[in-house]
Amino acid sequence: MTHAPIPGYRYDDPHLPESPVTAGDLEGLTAATLFSDTDVAALKLAGEVLADQTEQILDVWYGFVGSHPHLLAYFSTPEGVPVDAYLAGVRRRFGQWITDTCTRPYDARWLAQQEEIALRHTSAKKNATDGVRSVPHVPLRYLIAFIYPITATMRPFLAAKGHAEEEVEAMHQAWFKAVTLQVALWARPYAGAAW
Ligand code: HEM
Repeated sequence: MTHAPIPGYRYDDPHLPESPVTAGDLEGLTAATLFSDTDVAALKLAGEVLADQTEQILDVWYGFVGSHPHLLAYFSTPEGVPVDAYLAGVRRRFGQWITDTCTRPYDARWLAQQEEIALRHTSAKKNATDGVRSVPHVPLRYLIAFIYPITATMRPFLAAKGHAEEEVEAMHQAWFKAVTLQVALWARPYAGAAW
């Protein structure tokens, strides 16, 4: 099946800058999150389970952001007016991110994409992709705190296709690790030398 390109999505763009994170750094983080080949397999299954549920998942996450003014503020003008085109543009890339998290190999290209997503939450690149006027960065504390809702809300979607409880649990644990691992990577531009 072919899909229309997603505006601003650069995963396969050969000009995407390399990440300063090394394969050794990544190894340290996969070990720290207990991420193993079992998780790779569970995520692959999760990718199949979630494939046709992306819009419903995004509805839940956007509902969460939209109902909290202090979070919606990051998709709004500095005066506090939500920017619909911004919410919609990011939504498409967010949907693709769910698939990428489940199906892409965690290699140098994946690291480059992680660095790009990280920078897009900071003043280095936020707002530029969608050409919007919004606040300059998303605070790191909210990225970290979001690991919980982005993980907890996923369980019913992972369970929706009738898999055995152990399989659902394995997919959920793998998802939790993958999100934690990515947010650890996204902390890099915020933390500088302390990373
Ligand atoms: C676990 C935590 C989070 C995950 C997994 C996540 C995921 C993503 C993804 C996949 C994108 C699209 C990146 C791209 O352009 O390809 C994105 C962009 C964005 N996220 Fe997050 N995010 C998280 C936390 C947050 C929080 C807490 C906020 C604030 C409410 C936030 C606000 C934004 C904004 C404003 C953008 C657009 C950035 C831009 O201008 O390019 N994110 N996020």
